[in-house]
This record gives sequence, structure tokens and C-alpha cells, in this order.
Amino acid sequence: MEHTCAIIKPDAVSAGHTGAILQRIEEAGFGVIGMRLVRLTKTEAEGFYAVHRERPFFDSLTTFMSSGPAVVLALEAPDVIARWRALMGATDPAQADDGTLRRQFGNAIERNATHGSDAPETAAFELGYFFRGVELTR
Ligand code: RTP
Ligand code: MG
Repeated sequence: MEHTCAIIKPDAVSAGHTGAILQRIEEAGFGVIGMRLVRLTKTEAEGFYAVHRERPFFDSLTTFMSSGPAVVLALEAPDVIARWRALMGATDPAQADDGTLRRQFGNAIERNATHGSDAPETAAFELGYFFRGVELTR
């Protein structure tokens, strides 16, 4: 079993796409073992995206991620890191394949509806950022 941290970003939550995205997660067969509605502060968003601190989009990205409620999920399934990223599609919704979440629900490279961890190490960091171990249903 593998775990990943998925986020339904503020653009998708405010647009009312939370239910549709959760349905796609359930249809994919991913186990949802943690779920929180969070309103990140700017500082919390900066901590979450610390690996991108030197990137030109860092300030804009963390401002967006702290602009409204987001839904953070702990997902569990075999190979779920790659499978969730495949379901999301490319970072830029304009480049994402038909049928992917970012194609359907994303609006721009930054306002791209969802997040997913990119490796087991980042999944562990990101899940630890939002969930205490005891909150994860096993
Ligand atoms: P994520 O981490 O959110 O799942 O997305 P990702 O791996 O596909 O993309 P990553 O390179 O990790 O970038 C993190 C988030 O930063 C925003 N971004 N903006 N303006 C830009 O050129 C740019 N590039 C990336 C996106 O919101 C991306 O999801
Ligand atoms: Mg990433």
C-alpha cells in the first residue's frame, strides 16, 4: 500500500467542485483515510510549498493557496502517487489530457484545481503537515 496527499485547491472548492472530485477519487478505488477542510494562512502555505521557495511563482502560489478553504485528503491505494497524478493530469490545465481533473476543473497553471504529492518522501512530509498519525483511519 502507498499513501499520497491530495488537495482540492481553493479555486475548485469555491467553484463547488469538491463533490465531483471526491466522486472521481472514490470511482478510482482510492481509499480515503483522512479528510480535512482547511483555510491555510499565508505562512502555512509557504511551509507546505517550501520546496518551491526560490521559484518565481512562489508568492503568487502561496497567496492563492491561502485565499480560501481547501480540502486536504490522505489517499491510500497501490501505486496511488502515480495514479492520483495521472487522474489530475498535467500541471497546466491547457496541456492536460481530456478526462483529467485539471482539464475539467482547472482554470490556469496556478489555479489548477488539485494537488498531489510527487514521491513517497514528499507524501510523508505533506501528510505529516496536515494529519496526526492517529487521525488516519486504518
Ligand atoms: P502540485 O505540486 O500542486 O500537485 O503540482 P505539480 O507537481 O504538477 O506542479 P509543481 O511543479 O509541483 O508546482 C506546484 C504548483 O505551483 C503552481 N505552478 N505555477 N506559474 C507557473 O509557472 C507555475 N508552475 C507551477 C501550480 O499550481 C502547481 O500545481
Ligand atoms: Mg508538485
